[in-house]
Amino acid sequence: MSKMMLSFVMLTLFSGVTTSVLVNAEESDGKKYSTKEVMKVAFKGGLLKKVSSGNASAEEAKKLHAMLVSLSKNQPKKGDADSWKKLTSALVKASTAVKEGTEGAGAMLQKASNCKACHNIHK
Ligand code: HEC
Repeated sequence: MSKMMLSFVMLTLFSGVTTSVLVNAEESDGKKYSTKEVMKVAFKGGLLKKVSSGNASAEEAKKLHAMLVSLSKNQPKKGDADSWKKLTSALVKASTAVKEGTEGAGAMLQKASNCKACHNIHK
């Protein structure tokens, strides 16, 4: 609910700002993470595992989500854009579910983070 109210307030204050900018401001923490950085910190570094197993703080879940949003906006150096979009939006969707406390979100995140499935195409 607070998110919607924030959007409403922002929309009222900055009526010239487009919806997509608002969505971006809500979803990411404003930082850009390179794919390598996301791999090192989240995928290899253990943040993703911690979040998907339900042992992370809300702050950590938020950070992972921001990283995955950033990842989804990065350009893969290999593989086509449609495939990248499909794989990364599943990650963003799952990390959103974790943040919102949806049941089974951890398993969803684990499933979406299949290293090999993505590396085979995009690495
Ligand atoms: C959605 C796609 C995707 C998923 C899922 C993914 N990776 Fe990656 N990974 C990449 C891409 C793309 C690169 C190449 C990055 C580059 O070199 O710019 C990469 C590179 C890496 C690297 C090398 C980073 C470096 O410094 O060069 C490591 C380590 C890595 N991934 C670990 C993992 C692990 C572990 C998992 C699973 C838990 C995983 N990745 C899941 C896309 C993915």
